[in-house]
Amino acid sequence: MAEIIIKSNENEAAELVADFFFKQIETNPKLVLGLATGSTPLKVYELLAEKIKRSNIDVKSLQGFSLDEYVGIDFAHPESYHSIIDNHVTKPMGLDPAKVNVPNGNYETIISAGPDYEKAIAAAGGIDIQILGIGTDGHIGFNEPGSSLASRTRIKTLTEQTRIDNSRFFNSLDEVPTHCITQGIGTIMQAKHLILMAFGESKAEAIAQSVEGGISSFWPASALQMHPRATVVIDEACSSKLKNAQYYKWAFEHKPTWQGL
Ligand code: GLP
Repeated sequence: MAEIIIKSNENEAAELVADFFFKQIETNPKLVLGLATGSTPLKVYELLAEKIKRSNIDVKSLQGFSLDEYVGIDFAHPESYHSIIDNHVTKPMGLDPAKVNVPNGNYETIISAGPDYEKAIAAAGGIDIQILGIGTDGHIGFNEPGSSLASRTRIKTLTEQTRIDNSRFFNSLDEVPTHCITQGIGTIMQAKHLILMAFGESKAEAIAQSVEGGISSFWPASALQMHPRATVVIDEACSSKLKNAQYYKWAFEHKPTWQGL
């Protein structure tokens, strides 16, 4: 199963993950980063950008692949995932924009966009570390409940719940796109290391189902149970529905060999 790390709060969790990423970048300047949008990883990006600036390490060879994008949204829209990745990752970290990829949600090329993205990931040698958030319904990327656990990058229809959750970023629910293009669960599972982060009571059920429930396409993040190297970093509030929270804390405190995360 995944390693579960429970920190007292979101800031401590973000520090841990940002430190880990920074060490990995220091040792491998050609790392292929798997990026996620949503509010959850923003603090990690902010901390990582500060660390990169302070250190003067060369990040121009790093590559990035984001998980998903809305279909039909203008790249320049402030809530497009192109804009979010550009503003929170590429620019503040000083990455080469040509090496940071986000799935292409343009209507004109949408049919080939999924296979093209898969080819680009393969050409980069695969994703080394994939950061993930989780939806309240257990989705990862935009793989909504019912998504095949073997799926590849493709178009999906957003659920009502996800559109409601994401409407806080738009002026109204009507403005939230209805479709997206997302890496599949099968694509995500090929990243060498998965780090899923979740905070707050609203994600507690999704985390409990995904970590301690059965493996099911109806809790897409439960696929992580089959990944050889998956880490789940949560805060106290998000651990409230886990049956074995005390054990995970104990195991983390007594970890025999410290490997960064
Ligand atoms: C969106 C993204 C997901 C993200 C989820 C949770 O639906 N496509 O990748 O994990 O939101 O967002 P937040 O981190 O804001 O709770």
